[in-house]
Amino acid sequence: MILPINTYSDEVLHQKAKPLKGVDAEISALIDSMFESMENASGIGLAAPQVGCSIRLLVLDISCMKSYEDVQPMVVINPNVLAVRGKNLMEEGCLSVPGVQGDVLRPSEITLKYRDRNFQEHTEEFSGMLARVLQHEIDHLNGTLFVDRMEKRDRRRIQQELDDIAAGLVPADYPIARECSRSGEGPACM
Ligand code: NI
Repeated sequence: MILPINTYSDEVLHQKAKPLKGVDAEISALIDSMFESMENASGIGLAAPQVGCSIRLLVLDISCMKSYEDVQPMVVINPNVLAVRGKNLMEEGCLSVPGVQGDVLRPSEITLKYRDRNFQEHTEEFSGMLARVLQHEIDHLNGTLFVDRMEKRDRRRIQQELDDIAAGLVPADYPIARECSRSGEGPACM
């Protein structure tokens, strides 16, 4: 099922999401819907709060990107960044901030503990594009958007675009959620 995506000013994107205790049939169905919604929107990562569910779950698939064709899609539950190394500046965008791009400085490598779709625990190192997308999506679980990490001057430059998104004036190629339609704990979430 393709789920509508919450945008910039929606409250669910500014909350700290709750950990999952396991993966039941409903969460499993949500994971499938998140992959479908991400693909429909041509995204490479999607966090549960972006579809109105305030839980610590994200999916990503960067295999559509050049030189990442062999990277398997990932389901990441209850992620915990144990260590970071290096820094790099990269341009980011977000399905919740349609039409906006901006440079964000982030660690270039991370050590991540997380649970997969079967709730099995893993501790792995990530670098390059995977480290970048993982950190962007984990930010969503903590109520942070990439625009919050942009240099103040860059952020000022895009403020009008953000205001336009908040006012519902920016069209997207995928369904956008209405702010009042979900509380973050709706039936599609849990
Ligand atoms: Ni995003």
